[in-house]
Amino acid sequence: MKHVLSADQFSRSDLDHIMKRSAEMADILALGGSKLCDGKILGALFYEPSTRTRLSFETAMMRLGGKVISETDVTFSSQTKGEVIEDTIRIVGGYADIIAIRTKQKGEAKLAAHYSPVPVLNGGDGSGEHPTQSLLDLYTIFKHHKIGEKPLNVTFVGDLKYGRTVHSLAKILRQYEGVNIQYVAPEEIQMPEEYIKDGDSIHTELHDEILQQADVIYDTRMQKERFEDVETFNRVRNAFIFTPEMVGKMKPDAILMHPLPRVNEIQQAVDKLPQAKYFEQALNGVPVRMALIAEALEI
Ligand code: CP
Repeated sequence: MKHVLSADQFSRSDLDHIMKRSAEMADILALGGSKLCDGKILGALFYEPSTRTRLSFETAMMRLGGKVISETDVTFSSQTKGEVIEDTIRIVGGYADIIAIRTKQKGEAKLAAHYSPVPVLNGGDGSGEHPTQSLLDLYTIFKHHKIGEKPLNVTFVGDLKYGRTVHSLAKILRQYEGVNIQYVAPEEIQMPEEYIKDGDSIHTELHDEILQQADVIYDTRMQKERFEDVETFNRVRNAFIFTPEMVGKMKPDAILMHPLPRVNEIQQAVDKLPQAKYFEQALNGVPVRMALIAEALEI
């Protein structure tokens, strides 16, 4: 594995290996980290806001004994002076051993990888994909369900058009037998055709029956910054708001996930319910990204 650009690139055996390596990294993390990446530098180039992805990549590298250089505000980047991403990447690839990047435009991580002398890890490219998130999502699902051993109903809810995490996770889940996928979103922000496959079911309302049958509900934020007009956003912004009453209808062993940040789509009163796993999910980003860094550096 060199670059991580899209969920498409992973075979089932790749996924099995990354899940195993992530579990090993969780053990290393519990012991305080290691020196596996001693002398290595991660370049974190984040041209869109991020809390979890950037900081968990940085934490992952530091827990492996490496160091971090970062560019987190485009205002202070030479891109503001007109530099193109191709040039930035050539230079940062000379400073760092590996690059984690978040870009505004779909496909930009792939472009960066083309010009990079070092591995590039896509930390989200516009409304395209977020493949490293989908791996920590998979890791989280595995912690609670034995995917492939019995049927698993996974329901994606919210902004499925612009929410890049669901694009990547839907692709990853196709590698496993017995995963049934439902999409629940208003028509305007329904899952794009390119990610829908035969057998998936599509809904515009979150009926009780869907809540009751789901093993995993993966909720997402309405991505206000990506809507083409404010009227559409205002029409759908409160389409689904998870309340304790709604989550109480889920199976006791079902899990409610969310890549975060949340705005208002899950009430804070839900946090204490046993189904709420979104904070655990975000913390899983560290061992999974430790595994991805080590794999990409072939350590
Ligand atoms: N899940 C996720 O991508 O969060 P951030 O935007 O905070 O990185």
